[in-house]
Amino acid sequence: MPITSDQYRQIMRRYPAAVTIISTGRAPERSGMTATAVMSLSAEPVRVVCAINRSSLTFAHMERNGFFCVNTLSQEQTELATLFAGRDTRFGEERFSEQHWTTLESGAPVLRQAVMALDCRLNQCIEMGTHALVIGDVLAGTVVATQPPLLYVDGRWAGLDTRLACAA
Ligand SMILES: Cc1cc2nc3c(=O)[nH]c(=O)nc-3n(C[C@H](O)[C@H](O)[C@H](O)COP(=O)(O)O)c2cc1C
Repeated sequence: MPITSDQYRQIMRRYPAAVTIISTGRAPERSGMTATAVMSLSAEPVRVVCAINRSSLTFAHMERNGFFCVNTLSQEQTELATLFAGRDTRFGEERFSEQHWTTLESGAPVLRQAVMALDCRLNQCIEMGTHALVIGDVLAGTVVATQPPLLYVDGRWAGLDTRLACAA
């Protein structure tokens, strides 16, 4: 018997991931979503890839705008992670506040206090069923905060145990 979607979801709950907000657009038409399916694709050329649900508002806006930013959250930013995961009624521009957001090269929204941010031009979208692999060429990047990154595992926000940190 092949594995079911539910069994797969249960297994993937154990997969620890860094938490990002992928943001796009310009005020007053910004949108953004919490996303963990993000990884570095290559350093030459400098590219990142994310798996984005094609039914999300953010995906529609990314395709239309051609730019987006990947903002990695710190452990201080669980409220933003929850907000951008759509856990309340705020949608699109309503999730943004000037206090938290600025812009870089592409004009896409960049989170001021992100652990790191990658400002990207959309290179290619590869449709894969419910999701799309979105490949971005990185135009600029920042490392803004020294706080440890926010993680997601077992259906919860989590942090690094820095006592375990040693050279890899
Ligand atoms: C921890 C966590 C990780 C998520 N990762 C992704 C992801 O990688 N890709 C995705 O399409 N949705 C992901 N989501 C779901 C989106 O954040 C959610 O559907 C969001 O409301 C979409 O917003 P939008 O429709 O305004 O763009 C994740 C949600 C949570 C809570």
